[in-house]
Amino acid sequence: MSKVLVVYNTRRGETKAIADLIAEGLRFEGAEAKVVNVTDVKKEADLEGYDGYVFGSATYHGEMMQGMKTMLFLAEKVDLEGKVGGAFGAFGWSGEAPDRIYETMKNIFKMDMVGDPLRLKSSSLGGGTQMAQDYGRNVGKKL
Ligand SMILES: Cc1cc2nc3c(=O)[nH]c(=O)nc-3n(C[C@H](O)[C@H](O)[C@H](O)COP(=O)(O)O)c2cc1C
Repeated sequence: MSKVLVVYNTRRGETKAIADLIAEGLRFEGAEAKVVNVTDVKKEADLEGYDGYVFGSATYHGEMMQGMKTMLFLAEKVDLEGKVGGAFGAFGWSGEAPDRIYETMKNIFKMDMVGDPLRLKSSSLGGGTQMAQDYGRNVGKKL
C-alpha cells in the first residue's frame, strides 16, 4: 500500500480541515494517508519513507506561514526527487501560499506534481469538500 504524508500549517484550522479531506480522498484510492501538523515535523526522519507528499499552508500577508517555510528547508535535505506531490491551502483573497509551495516542490525538490495546487476559501463552502477529496484522489491516482 502506498503511503502519503499530508502536512498542514494553519492558524485557525481551515487548512487542517482541507488536509483531512485530502487524506480521505487518498484513502478512497487505497493509499495510506498520515496527516500531521507542521509543528510536529522536527527532523529529516519525520519526512522520510513516504511515496507521496502533500504540503499545505494558509496564506497570511501574501505568503505561506513561517512553519511551512522552515519545513521546506528541512525537506530540501531529504531526497524527494520523483516522489508524487501536491500543495494546498486556505486563503481569503490572494492565496499565494499553495502556489509557492507547489513551485518549490516542483523546481527544487524535482517532485512529480499533480496538475495544479489546490486553493480553497473554505472546505465547507462552494463544493470545497468535494474539491479537497478529489485532490486527494488525484494524488492517489498518480502513485
Ligand atoms: C491578518 C491576516 C492576514 C491575511 N492575509 C491574507 C493574504 O494576504 N491573502 C489571502 O488570500 N488571505 C489572507 N488572509 C485570510 C486567510 O488566509 C484565511 O482566513 C484562511 O482561511 C486562514 O486559514 P487557516 O484557518 O488555515 O489559518 C489573512 C487573514 C488574516 C487574519
